[in-house]
This record gives sequence, structure tokens and C-alpha cells, in this order.
Amino acid sequence: MYSIVKYKHLISNQDADTQKRYGMIEKLSNGFTTENTTALALDKLLTEQIELETESEVLVEEPAIKKVSRSKSKNGSDDVEMAFTNLFEALKQHTIPALNVNNDSLRDAIAETLKRVKIRLSDLDEDLQKRVSSSPVLIKYDFPKTKTAPFKKPEIADFQRVVDDVMLGNNVFLVGGAGTGKTYLAENLIAKMALGRQYITINCSQWTAPVEIIGGQTMDGFTEGKLIEAWSKGYVLILDELPKIDPNTAGLLNDALAKTKVSGAIIFNARKESFPKHEDFACIATGNIYPDKESITYGANNKQDLSLLDRFSGSVYFISKNPVIERDILHNDMVWSICDKIRSVIDELKYEAQLSLRFMQNARDAYNLEMLRIKDKGKDGVQANDGKTLKSAVDSYISTFTEVQQKNIKDKIRYNELFGHYEYRDFPTSKMVF
Ligand SMILES: Nc1ncnc2c1ncn2[C@@H]1O[C@H](COP(=O)(O)OP(=O)(O)OP(=O)(O)O)[C@@H](O)[C@H]1O
Ligand SMILES: [Mg+2]
Repeated sequence: MYSIVKYKHLISNQDADTQKRYGMIEKLSNGFTTENTTALALDKLLTEQIELETESEVLVEEPAIKKVSRSKSKNGSDDVEMAFTNLFEALKQHTIPALNVNNDSLRDAIAETLKRVKIRLSDLDEDLQKRVSSSPVLIKYDFPKTKTAPFKKPEIADFQRVVDDVMLGNNVFLVGGAGTGKTYLAENLIAKMALGRQYITINCSQWTAPVEIIGGQTMDGFTEGKLIEAWSKGYVLILDELPKIDPNTAGLLNDALAKTKVSGAIIFNARKESFPKHEDFACIATGNIYPDKESITYGANNKQDLSLLDRFSGSVYFISKNPVIERDILHNDMVWSICDKIRSVIDELKYEAQLSLRFMQNARDAYNLEMLRIKDKGKDGVQANDGKTLKSAVDSYISTFTEVQQKNIKDKIRYNELFGHYEYRDFPTSKMVF
């Protein structure tokens, strides 16, 4: 039932974390006698880990041993050759069955052989000489298996770095103005396309409740939290608009986000049930600001605890407007150039407002609808001017400014020349207006 039992003899050689996990399984299963769901899940993880480690040791070392034992010693000494043979035999005896390495007796056997004969570096085969003298630094990655269909690399400067970060188990924070494409980047481009993983999103606001994060009682009985679900099933947890969350509620994320990198780490839900981490769990947060202070432009964002922000340190990316992507998505340079002009005018006049890709899409869709109606000569019974148009989209956008601001914006974008009599309808969509 518990497969880790057969590696009991190896546990004392493992790191503290592994030993702790072994102890936990032993405890939860009453000494491996009862079937406990958490213990079984932990058991599977730990067994896989140990098998992977021992397998890779054997895979790496065995060819080297054989090579050494077969290599001709340079000085032709029989003693050295014999020593090699003895060493090989000793290693074979003490590492077979492969998973049953007894470190102490192996060490004794090697010491015994080397007592009788000295082996110099030059006695070793060339490949091994190189390996010994360059003494490589050993590193170990714990990458989850990632298999995805090929897709076009997005024109986003930090794209590969963000994907690497998520793969390395770092929590990522994407910061950028409204409608710059952060949510789309996190959910679709990174989680779905680059990593081929499912995602689960918490839309953070001041009303986000603990039940959504760690579960709790609802009208339908106990509902599991999204953090717990992502954690235990290996989804990418998207904390959309994280800075808007109440800092006290955000505290519930601290423990888990500190352990995103720790294989098999345990967290607890609202019922104090424990959940081991699935190796594919990852977390991407988005926000309009980096919430280390209060924001004037983005008022609903809260200053967050530094301990929460620390969970993302080293992996914060600022996403800015990206004309290449915008034009690619819009497929309409005429509409894009008008939107871009309004955006730069707002910037120039220092008005506190955003013009996002979302608005651009809205304006483009409006334009397509009105042009369709004109082409079909009101087949749907609606005159183009009565329905949604590029002009009405721009009007709606500008109407959110004060009267003085509206006048200034309109002057700067030559509103009357473009929109007075729907002049833009005669412009080609492949050319910029500005
Ligand atoms: N690479 C892309 N390809 C296609 N559509 C995209 C892409 N990036 C963003 N979009 C679209 O642009 C719009 C804005 O993107 P998104 O909602 O991701 O922005 P955001 O930065 O999260 O905005 P907010 O801060 O307001 O939440 C959405 O309609 C989205 O579908
Ligand atoms: Mg968003």
C-alpha cells in the first residue's frame, strides 16, 4: 500500500525535508498500517522523488565505472589494473540491486582497495581525468514536464523570462496600465499556450473573501478554495488585480506563495485538511500598480504587506502599451492610429485617464459593424448612423472627461474633420490617419 517503506533504509541519508515528509507519512498512516488519503498522496510523491534520485545516480555513474575498469592503466602496472577491477566489483556488489546502495560498506570497500595500491590521476581514463580535474558544480533542476503545441512567440519583451520564471517555480507579478494585456498574457499566453496548463483565476477586489481562497461553508455546503484547487491539481493560479485585495485577506496567500518552489509542500484549507503541492502549481499575479504604496491614479488598489510582495521579488515585470501587438490584434491601422492619437493627446495634456487595448477593440468592432451595415444598406433594418459606430465609441470615450478637457482633446485630434460627417468611412483601413 505504501511504497516508500521499501526505501526506509535510504531515508536517514536524505535531507531534512525528505525525512520530515517520511515522518509525516508514517504518522498519518499509523506506521504504514491505515489508508490515509494525504499519506498516500505524499507517499507517491516521495517515492517518485527517491526513485528519480537513485535512478539518476546509477544512470550517471555506471558507464563511468565500466570505463575505468576497462581502461588500460598508462604505466601498465598489473596492480593498478587489479585495483580497478576490484573497485568495479566492489561498486557492483554494493549498488546492486541498484536502489539498495549501502554507503558505509561501499566506502569501506573502496578504502580497503586503495590501501593496497595507489591510483594516480594519470592512471584514469582521459574522460574521467577531465571530470575529476574540472570538478563540475552539480546543479539539479526540478522542472515539471512541459509539453505544448508550438505557437508564435508573442512580441512581448519579457515573454520568455516570465515563462522561465513560472517554470522555475517563482511567483510572477505583471504590472501595467489598464488594458495593456496582462490578464490575457497570464491566462492565455503563459498558462495555456506556453506551459499547456490549466489556470484558475481569482478576480481580486476588496470584497474577495477567504472562502474563495482557502474554501469554506457556502449555501451549497463546503466549497473548496481556488488556491487549494490550483495547489493540489497543478493549475496556474492567476491572482488578477492582486493589489485590489484587502491586505488582511491577502495574508492567506502568504504561506502557500512562500512554498511554490518546494516540492510536495503542504498547505491547509479552511477545514484544516492538508494538501500536498502538485508539481505543476504556479502563480501569476497582475495589477495596475506595484502596491508598495497607495496609488492616486488607481484608487481601488491597496498598499499590500511587504511580506506578500516579497513572494514576488525578482519576478516583477512591467508591461507597457505595445503598438506592435495592438496593430496585430486590431488589423485596422486607421482605427489604431486614431486611438493612439487620442492616447498620446491625453498623455500630453497630463489627464489622468487610460486608453486601453480593450477600448481599441471596442472601437474597431464598432467600425466593422457600421461598415457592414453601410455595405448591406441597412438590411437588418438599422441605419448605420443609428447603431454603434466608430464615432459613437470615440464620443462615449471622450464623454468621460470634463467639458474643457473634451474640447482640448477634440481640437488636438481634429475631431470635426474626422468625425463631423463620418469622414473616416472613406479612409482605407490599411493607412494611418495620424
Ligand atoms: N496578445 C493578445 N492577443 C489577442 N488579444 C489580446 C492580447 N493581449 C490582450 N488582448 C485583448 O486585449 C484586451 C485587454 O487585455 P487584458 O484584459 O488582458 O488587459 P489587462 O492589462 O488585464 O487590463 P486590466 O488592467 O484592465 O485588467 C482584452 O480584450 C484581451 O482579450
Ligand atoms: Mg486584467
